[in-house]
Amino acid sequence: MKNRLVSGMRPTGKLHLGHYVGVLEKWKDLQNSRDSLFFVADWHALSTSYEDRLNLKNLSIDLVRDWISSGIDPEKASLFIQSQVKEHAELYLILNMITPLGWLERNPTYKDQLQQLSGKDINSAGFLTYPVLQSADVLLYDAIEVPIGEDQRPHLEISREIARRFNFLYGSNIFIEPKEVLSETSKLNGLDGRKMSKSYGNSIYLSDNKDEVLIKLKAGKTDPNRIKKTDLGNPEVCIIFSYHKEFSNIDEVNEIAESCKTGKIGCVDCKKRCSVSINNLLEPMRERQINLNDNYIIDVIENGKNRASQIAKNKMNEINKIVFDGK
Ligand code: TRP
Ligand code: SF4
Repeated sequence: MKNRLVSGMRPTGKLHLGHYVGVLEKWKDLQNSRDSLFFVADWHALSTSYEDRLNLKNLSIDLVRDWISSGIDPEKASLFIQSQVKEHAELYLILNMITPLGWLERNPTYKDQLQQLSGKDINSAGFLTYPVLQSADVLLYDAIEVPIGEDQRPHLEISREIARRFNFLYGSNIFIEPKEVLSETSKLNGLDGRKMSKSYGNSIYLSDNKDEVLIKLKAGKTDPNRIKKTDLGNPEVCIIFSYHKEFSNIDEVNEIAESCKTGKIGCVDCKKRCSVSINNLLEPMRERQINLNDNYIIDVIENGKNRASQIAKNKMNEINKIVFDGK
C-alpha cells in the first residue's frame, strides 16, 4: 500500500512557470511513489470569486488539461473536481460544527488575504471557513501527506487541530493528522523580480509560444548596473540568471555566470539562450496539449470522480455513524 496523498489547486486561470516549478514538479515526482489524488478546488475558488460569475466548469477542465500536458499522469494519479464529490460539502458542514471561530479568525493567511484582497468583499462565512473546507478535502481521504506552498501551512495546521478535536470529542481515531510536503512556491520570481503572479503581469505561461517567451524575457529585469556588454555583471541579482539556474543545464549556467562577471556575454544573447532553455521545457507540453481532446479530459475527470467518490462515501458513512449513532 502506497501512502495516500491529497492536494488541490484553485481554477483561477492558466498556469505559469511559477506554478510548474513550485507545485507541479512536486506533484509529478510524488505521483510515482504515492497514491495521489489531485483535485480542482472549484468551491474554494468560489469563496473569493463568487461575484465574478466565472465559468468554473470550463476553468476546471482547462486546469486538468494543463496538469496533464505538464506531465501529471492520469494513469498514476486520480484527477477530479471537488464539487463533483458532494461528500466534501457534507464533511465541511460537520467540521464547521466543531471548529472554534477563534482558530479561523487568528489564521495568519486569512488576515493576510483580507488585507491583500481589499478590493473584494470577502467578509463572508465561506471565506472565513475556507480552512474548514480544506480540512474536509484531506480528512475525507485519510491523506497522510499534503503537498502545499508556504502560505498554506496555517491551513494545514488547522486541519490537524480539527482532526485532533474531532477525535477527542467523539473518542475515536477516525481522522489521521496529515503531514505537509512543502514546495517552494517562491522559488521562481516574475520578470520584474516580484512574485510571479497573473495580477502583476510578470508571468511566463505554460501556454506561451516560442516567440512570446523570448519577447517576455527581453523585457525581463537584469543586473541594473550593467549597461554595456563590457560592464562586469553580477548574475546573482539578475532574474534572467535565476531562470537559467532553473531551466538551463549546469555547464551552461556556470559558463554564463563566468561570462557575465567578466563582461563577455551581452544580456541580449543571454536572454536568447534562456528562451531556448525554457522553450525546451515547454515544447513537449505544447505538443501534448495539442493531442489532448476534450472528451479525453472529461473521461479522466469522470474516472477520478468515481475513484474519489468511492473512498469519500465509505469514509462519510463511518463519520456519520460516529456523529449520529450516539454512545
Ligand atoms: N487552498 C489551496 C491553495 O489555494 C488549495 C486547496 C484546497 C488545497 N484544498 C486543498 C491544497 C487541500 C491542499 C489540500 O493553494
Ligand atoms: Fe543577467 Fe545574463 Fe545580463 Fe548577466 S548577462 S546580467 S546573467 S541577463
